[in-house]
Amino acid sequence: MKTVFITGVTAGFGEAAARRFLKEGWRVIGSGRRQDRLDALSAELGDNFFALCFDVRDKAQVFETIRNLPEHWQTIDTLVNNAGLALGLGAFNDADLTDWETMIDTNIKGLLYVSKAIVSQFIKQGHGHFINLGSTAGTYPYPGANVYGSSKAFVNIVDATIT
Ligand SMILES: NC(=O)c1ccc[n+]([C@@H]2O[C@H](COP(=O)([O-])OP(=O)(O)OC[C@H]3O[C@@H](n4cnc5c(N)ncnc54)[C@H](OP(=O)(O)O)[C@@H]3O)[C@@H](O)[C@H]2O)c1
Repeated sequence: MKTVFITGVTAGFGEAAARRFLKEGWRVIGSGRRQDRLDALSAELGDNFFALCFDVRDKAQVFETIRNLPEHWQTIDTLVNNAGLALGLGAFNDADLTDWETMIDTNIKGLLYVSKAIVSQFIKQGHGHFINLGSTAGTYPYPGANVYGSSKAFVNIVDATIT
């Protein structure tokens, strides 16, 4: 049975992807920051779902959590870098610096931390796939998508260069 690791399963695309992978017969490691949502998903989705509560922006927590996965869950076949967000999509000069920092820390740095924590295992086992959630905003900029679009353009480039 194959295993997929999906960041951001407590809502949206990540939750939908977790449900779909389980339906297709995969085991799913799903992460997010909201323990109550993870507990509810664990209760509902059963033994082929394993929940991990961590913040992708916290470098030490990312590496420590993934390093300490139970032995039974240590073989990962596919990583879905889904956790991400768009904040404050107003004009550049009106932007809140905290919104920019949160998007950069989550969409860019968080994706890098999780990928780096898992890629060595992919290399060791001789296989592994990355699925990185980009956005049309990363290819076709629109007013207000300044830092969000840039963070997703980053995903396009990193996606093309992860080997
Ligand atoms: N929705 C769209 O129209 C759209 C379009 C193009 C691309 N995307 C991309 O698709 C991805 C998912 O979007 P969505 O609309 O499904 O978002 P969403 O419904 O807001 O869900 C985001 C998920 O990411 C997790 N997350 C956010 N920040 C996190 C952090 N710091 N650490 C750990 N987990 C974090 C959230 O979990 P917690 O809150 O529990 O931490 C949640 O599970 C994002 O990368 C987004 O940029 C979305």
